[in-house]
Amino acid sequence: MSPIACHASRFKRAFLTLLLLLVGAPLFASPEEDREAFLAFFSGRFPGVPLEQYVHGSMMLSEDALSQYESIMDFPPFQGDIDRGRMLWEKPFANGRTFADCFDDGGRNVAGLYPYYDEANDRVVTFEMALNACLKENGEAKLDYGDRSTMGVLTAYARTLSDGMAMNIKVDSEGARKKYEAGRAFYFRRIGQHNLACASCHYTHAGHYFRDELLSPTIGQAVHFPVFRGGEFLFTLHMRYQRCMEALRAVPFAAGSEELNNLEYFHSYLNNGLPLKASVYRR
Ligand code: HEC
Repeated sequence: MSPIACHASRFKRAFLTLLLLLVGAPLFASPEEDREAFLAFFSGRFPGVPLEQYVHGSMMLSEDALSQYESIMDFPPFQGDIDRGRMLWEKPFANGRTFADCFDDGGRNVAGLYPYYDEANDRVVTFEMALNACLKENGEAKLDYGDRSTMGVLTAYARTLSDGMAMNIKVDSEGARKKYEAGRAFYFRRIGQHNLACASCHYTHAGHYFRDELLSPTIGQAVHFPVFRGGEFLFTLHMRYQRCMEALRAVPFAAGSEELNNLEYFHSYLNNGLPLKASVYRR
């Protein structure tokens, strides 16, 4: 290696280290050390807020927002979408089978196991991919993850079958670790014209205001999707990722892309142990 190249790579390494330290990320931590570091940071930022409240995102910091949330959830204005999802879930395929036949226990308490790492294909498999695999196995056409009126409402119902289950993501092989690291690197990478990382807002500045919105912490964010914003507009987790990338003036990756799947894998791991509750109201 020429001295200049060596210098350049040393400079690059020092620069990357500095960058990670600036956003507060521990280098080379195991997934469990990451989760503990995030938890410790947030419990310092939000003293006295019990962990189970984190599922409410930034609403956990406002009694008014929480009581508004609870009254909306008593009679969700988006119940019609969940019911449409239920019809899709229950409608028999041409061969007479249904989605429930593709999952353990008819699809109850399974969503918290996704995403998982599929060794054979060296990729992260999301719940949406499992739904599509089910369609394919049964000779049906796949659904588009970005389509609210099909995959969106289907997951709005199917994920409620796992309400109450604890998120339980495993990173237990070298291949899995690589995908987790890819998702983690994404989370801490500064992108877009605003030069901000996911971590800048949802870690470093969690609990602070961005414009007129209170920023939610990373932990608690991955257990309740899809959400209905304004009680009306269905947003899957990947649509929410895309919306945040657009706000950063970065070109968003496609819903269901490898980049967003890896990000979801890392993000969901950090939410391990929290109870799932799909299809909730968000502002
Ligand atoms: C400039 C600040 C900013 C950055 C950077 C940012 N977001 Fe957000 N994000 C927001 C705001 C504002 C909201 C809505 C308020 C809230 O729930 O935090 C939000 C909401 C979310 C939510 C929904 C939380 C919930 O409970 O419904 C998720 C998930 C999320 N962001 C993930 C990401 C990811 C992943 C990235 C990186 C690609 C990212 N955000 C980057 C500002 C940001």
